[in-house]
Amino acid sequence: MDNRPIGVFDSGLGGLTVLKEITELIPTESVVYFGDSGRAPYGIKSKETIVKYTFQDIRFLLNQDIKMIVIACNTASAYSYGLVKHNFDIPVVEVVQPGSAAAVRETRNNKIGIIGTTATISSGVYEKAISSIDNSIEVYSKACPLFVPLVEEGWWDNDIAYRVVEEYLIPLKEKGIDTLVLGCTHYPLLKNTIEKVMGEEVKLINSALEVAKVVDRVIKETVSGRDEKIKPVYRYYTSDSVEKFESLASSLLNKEIHSAEKVDIEKY
Ligand code: DGL
Repeated sequence: MDNRPIGVFDSGLGGLTVLKEITELIPTESVVYFGDSGRAPYGIKSKETIVKYTFQDIRFLLNQDIKMIVIACNTASAYSYGLVKHNFDIPVVEVVQPGSAAAVRETRNNKIGIIGTTATISSGVYEKAISSIDNSIEVYSKACPLFVPLVEEGWWDNDIAYRVVEEYLIPLKEKGIDTLVLGCTHYPLLKNTIEKVMGEEVKLINSALEVAKVVDRVIKETVSGRDEKIKPVYRYYTSDSVEKFESLASSLLNKEIHSAEKVDIEKY
């Protein structure tokens, strides 16, 4: 038995989509979540800054006595996963490989679309992951920098969201993709609008669910699970306003979050 929590972090609140899937799939596990909202977005920053922030986020989580790390942020996964694995002696799960593998399993016409932040798309990490599984697949990618601010504004399903989604995604639709990877923590919240634009025939891959399945597997194979008789504990930390975190986290997770704490992440 290993009763220590799983550590999950993201550049902000979007990673709660990953936490939600983990807690639904493995409700016996405790989780510590850190959202670096004070320094978000990561998706427009340089590689050096993204790596520096990622290492600080991980050092903070290691201070919380966790048994594994989940990099819920696609941008941090894209630029730091290799370095993190090399520098920290703890099981690490990232989000790019699980999302890519699910897309390859799903596509029927071998045409996959990838959407993400500017940093994630320019890293080319999804193309590499997909072609290492099946190099006959055509991959079309598109950075959608306005999606994150739309989600943070709570505009998930209105006319403006529809117009912006259309502007970015029609070119991908015209390529004839049948599968689209939502390669950013925030994008599952735009799922309904993306579905309206892309149509039912395009399968959307929510990496968050795929990541939760990998976390479950790593717990079974590498670290061990918690004693199921002990109630799981969820702790939330943010580098920005606690009130803002709690209000958005409560609506995202559909439950009241009152216990978030502020972290001075620059100390780590
Ligand atoms: N968490 C980031 C990602 O998944 C999106 C938000 C940001 O740019 O920080 O890529």
